[in-house]
Amino acid sequence: MSAYQIEVAIPDRDYTIEIAPGLLATARTIDVLQSLANKSRICIVTHPVLMKPYVSPLVEGLKERGIDPFLHVIPSGEHRKTLATVARMYDAFIEAKLDRKSLVVVVGGGVLGDAAGFAAASYLRGIRFVQIPTTLLAHVDSSVGGKTGVDLPQGKNLIGAFHQPSSVLIDPKTLQTLPMRELRAGLAEVIKYGIIYDNAFFARVDALLPRILRRDMEALSEIIARSCEIKAEVVCQDETEQGLRAILNFGHTIGHALEAITNYRRYKHGEAVAIGMVVESRIGERVGQTPAETTQALIDTLQRAKLPVAYPSDISVERVLEVAQRDKKTVGGLLRFVLPLRIGEVNVRSDVPISAIEAATQISI
Ligand SMILES: NC(=O)c1ccc[n+]([C@@H]2O[C@H](COP(=O)([O-])OP(=O)(O)OC[C@H]3O[C@@H](n4cnc5c(N)ncnc54)[C@H](O)[C@@H]3O)[C@@H](O)[C@H]2O)c1
Repeated sequence: MSAYQIEVAIPDRDYTIEIAPGLLATARTIDVLQSLANKSRICIVTHPVLMKPYVSPLVEGLKERGIDPFLHVIPSGEHRKTLATVARMYDAFIEAKLDRKSLVVVVGGGVLGDAAGFAAASYLRGIRFVQIPTTLLAHVDSSVGGKTGVDLPQGKNLIGAFHQPSSVLIDPKTLQTLPMRELRAGLAEVIKYGIIYDNAFFARVDALLPRILRRDMEALSEIIARSCEIKAEVVCQDETEQGLRAILNFGHTIGHALEAITNYRRYKHGEAVAIGMVVESRIGERVGQTPAETTQALIDTLQRAKLPVAYPSDISVERVLEVAQRDKKTVGGLLRFVLPLRIGEVNVRSDVPISAIEAATQISI
């Protein structure tokens, strides 16, 4: 089975992403956690559904080395990505007697990684944490790059911090228990990397789709590794999103607004991003920069991945614009959009006329 190692070379905070099917069950994982904890306390934060398959073996492995981790197990759901959840994490950290040298280990998807990463970023002004992501979205996106945070009722990820993990350990076998809808949602971000950065990867993902959807470990490992590599390249050039990193937001200006308007309950994050990418590609057509074939290729691949592509008829453009204005993707009050130039290349524009956004949401597919 293929194994991959990707270095995230951010000065002074560099770390390695390790990807291998079965990685969680190996001594390597315990070695990494043991050496990072360096005799200090470990707190594992996770969800109930992940306890038996993934966390219990990890706890056993640590206990065999004389390490007794503290467990904080919390229910799932984007609607729980809140400051209240983070406050409960602080209580758990205090109960676990975590100090400045302690280690938080997050075993879960992007919601938990973002929230627990933010708790680690702010507890005692910042302690180290390790990401053990368990969803495809977290494997390819949220576990890498150090964006942590929580939602407010007014919008997504409005509170947060840049805090890089000390290590990212990815075991694609965790995807064997992931519901199919979640797997597909993660694929939206994989397809995004092809559009924004690498046209050969876009074609490769499209060709691998049947194997990916069958959860073939070789195919999954390959796309996870290339996605992490692209994210790492972008993040290393622009950690705090002063410029280039914004390209990772393709599909997210519209996508985040759709999630907030529907109270984070109608769409999985990746599903909202899939619709957002199609709308934003259509906006690119309207402003004269995206070839219609690019949008069509995107739609075809998303549909083959069985992701939604149609803008919801019950949500007005005015409402989307209002919510998007509050999002972090505005600069000086201007909405910023990432728009394709072709497959593999995008630019960021803040001069999109409202008429182009309106027209892009009114095309039926
Ligand atoms: N920090 C970043 O750079 C970044 C990037 C992209 C997305 N995000 C954030 O990620 C979040 C979405 O993350 P997500 O899609 O992973 O959702 P999620 O964390 O809610 O996980 C989805 C569901 O799958 C369950 N689950 C997780 N792993 C499982 C497994 N192996 N087997 C069975 N069930 C499993 C969870 O309990 C949950 O119910 C959003 O809040 C988004 O804003 C962050």
